[in-house]
Amino acid sequence: MSMGHYSEQRPGFEVTKDWNGGDQVVIRSPRGASVLVSLHGGQVVSWRNERGEELLFTSSKLWVYIQAIFKPPKAMRGGIPICFPQFGNCGTLEQHGFARNRIWTVDDEAPPLNHNDNNGKASVDLLLKPSEDDLKCWPHCFEFRLRVSLSMDGDLSLVSRVRNVNGKPFSFSFAYHTYLSVSDISEVRIEGLETLDYLDNLSQRERFTEQGDAITFESEVDRVYVGSPSVIAVLDHEKKRTFIVRKEGLPDVVVWNPWDKKSKTMADFGDEEYKQMLCVDAAAVERAITLKPGEEWTGKLELSAVASTNCSDHLDYPCS
Ligand code: BG6
Repeated sequence: MSMGHYSEQRPGFEVTKDWNGGDQVVIRSPRGASVLVSLHGGQVVSWRNERGEELLFTSSKLWVYIQAIFKPPKAMRGGIPICFPQFGNCGTLEQHGFARNRIWTVDDEAPPLNHNDNNGKASVDLLLKPSEDDLKCWPHCFEFRLRVSLSMDGDLSLVSRVRNVNGKPFSFSFAYHTYLSVSDISEVRIEGLETLDYLDNLSQRERFTEQGDAITFESEVDRVYVGSPSVIAVLDHEKKRTFIVRKEGLPDVVVWNPWDKKSKTMADFGDEEYKQMLCVDAAAVERAITLKPGEEWTGKLELSAVASTNCSDHLDYPCS
C-alpha cells in the first residue's frame, strides 16, 4: 500500500491517506522499524523491522479488497485483523465479528495504560464504538480502545481494552488474527503448544490432545489450542528467524493455515500463498469473556522477531 499525499504529524505517529482516501497511521521507531495501521478495522497491515523487511503476510490479491471497499466492506487478507465480538461463525453475527470491518477513530483522549506499557514506545490509540446498525445485530454498548505500539527494538504490541458501558452484562470472544510472514510453511514449527488440548475446527470443534513434539505443517490446520502458556515461539528454519508471541488475558492460541485446497476457494488469496503465511492468534475463544456494567477487559499481544540463534534469551519473560 503506498503512502498518500496527505499527512498529519502527531506525537509518536503520523496519519496519512491510503490509495483510497482512507486514513492510516504510521508509527516509526528511531532505528527504522515501522508499523502501519489502517483505520479500516483498526488493522495492523504492515510491520517492518529496522532492515525494512516485512514481518506480516498480506495477500497479493489486493484488488479483491479494493473492490470490496466499494461494496460491503471487508477486512484485508493479512496483517492483524481484530476479531470481535466473536471469533468464528455462529449466530447472526458476521464471521469473526464486525470490528474488522468498521472504521475506527484515532483516540486523543485514551486513558493512560500502566507505566510499563508506555516505556520508550511510540504508539497510537484507536477507538471503536458501536453504530446504530451494530447495536441492531449485537445490542451491547461498548467502548473498544486499541493501543498499537512499537518499541525501540522494533517489537510490536497491541493492547485491547473493552469496556461495558451498558446497563447489562455481555459476553464476547476475541482474537488477534495474526498473519505471520514465513519463508516456506513446511520449514516452520511452533513451540509451546505441545501436549495441550485443542478444538479442531476441521471436525466441528471436537477436542483432541496434541501428541507430538513441536507443531509442524503438512496439510490444512485450523485449531484452537486452549489454556496455552503466555509465551510461544514460531520458528522459521529457512529464514533463521523466530517470532516470539507473548500474550496476556488471552488464554487460547488459534493456529490456521488453509493449505492448497482451501486456498483455491478463497477469492482474496493466491493459490500458492498458503506457503508464505501462518496465522498464530492470541485469542479468547473456548470460554467467552463476560463483562458486567462498568467493567473493562484487557488483552495484550506482543510480537518480537529475532534471529533464531538468539531466541532462547527471549523465551522466559512475559509481556512488558
Ligand atoms: C481462521 C479460522 O482463524 O480464520 C478459519 O479458524 C477461517 O476457519 C480463517 O477460515 C479465515 O477467516 P476469514 O473470515 O478471514 O476468511
